[in-house]
Amino acid sequence: MEDRVVCTCLDITYNTIKEAIENGAKTLDDIKDETEAGTICGMCEDEIQEILDELVK
Ligand code: FES
Repeated sequence: MEDRVVCTCLDITYNTIKEAIENGAKTLDDIKDETEAGTICGMCEDEIQEILDELVK
């Protein structure tokens, strides 16, 4: 489900994370810089990492 919300603090969806990866993000910190996902409570960090593991080749 591409439009599922990954970061509930900021309402950031899987698609937004995926786009950041397509734009060159390769690490959790890159995602935080580009989307701000994971920068509030940090609960979504594991899920962001899973998406990175899945999409970053
Ligand atoms: S759910 Fe992503 S920072 Fe809180």
